[in-house]
Amino acid sequence: MKLKDKVAIVTGAGQGIGFEICDRLAREGANVILNDLDEELAEEASAILFNKYGRGIAVAGDCSKMEVINTLIQTAVREYGRLDIAIANAGITLFGDFLTYSSESFKKVMEVNLGGTFFLAQAAAKQMKEQAEGGSLLFMSSVTGHQAHKNLTAYGMSKAAIEMLAKNLVIELSSFHINVNTIAPGATLTSRTLEDPEYEETWSRITPLGRPAYVEDIASAAVFLVSEEARQITGQTIVIDGGWSSISPSPYEE
Ligand SMILES: NC(=O)c1ccc[n+]([C@@H]2O[C@H](COP(=O)([O-])OP(=O)(O)OC[C@H]3O[C@@H](n4cnc5c(N)ncnc54)[C@H](O)[C@@H]3O)[C@@H](O)[C@H]2O)c1
Repeated sequence: MKLKDKVAIVTGAGQGIGFEICDRLAREGANVILNDLDEELAEEASAILFNKYGRGIAVAGDCSKMEVINTLIQTAVREYGRLDIAIANAGITLFGDFLTYSSESFKKVMEVNLGGTFFLAQAAAKQMKEQAEGGSLLFMSSVTGHQAHKNLTAYGMSKAAIEMLAKNLVIELSSFHINVNTIAPGATLTSRTLEDPEYEETWSRITPLGRPAYVEDIASAAVFLVSEEARQITGQTIVIDGGWSSISPSPYEE
């Protein structure tokens, strides 16, 4: 077990990539506090983990709100006495043409994707600094933070900024032995992306390794980056996209 008795928070973890990360963390021995905006999803997901591993606590709420972030940290400390790992996974994708993109959509994307990451990192780092034993922060970017993508200007900006946040935190947090890394997934199969019936076929066709990512591909890298094996890695982004961004063929053109 790579993460025995570590204490981890994961946001946006009721389904998809975040849930798979929680499952893998718990399998590796971590105590997981799972957050999702959707209370029912959060409760169901933590019940699945609890049945499988005997560990898993749900904290529902909007992870871009300071009170929810503070509750997440307080829950970790109250239940397990510490916090070792914080994974800012929650992210929303509001597609829209640049010329008509609303300021409401822009604010929402920045609030959740950027604010939710920045302030979770801040609160988690304060707790880790107090413990004085180091810790790991992990953020969730996207290949759209590297490569322009139609109708995803605001989302792509938010993801590029998350990677810059991780770099900046190398200066701010290395002296406390806190490492900060980012994963940038390419197209990944989740119940959300599979709502598009052509998603898997399209991305299989245009991905050099022949398929989109599975949530397991992302979770494997996440476990590595927050484990002792990655203690010397900080400020980095791992792109997991089956080679797509080396060529970046558009999903919209033949
Ligand atoms: N799936 C992909 O193809 C893909 C590709 C690149 C990057 N990503 C990124 O990976 C992360 C996870 O993506 P996913 O596809 O698994 O997402 P998803 O939509 O399947 O699940 C995300 C979960 O986050 C929750 N959530 C949304 N806003 C929240 C908030 N404010 N507070 C708490 N929870 C909130 C949702 O209720 C949902 O259960 C996101 O940051 C996303 O941008 C996903």
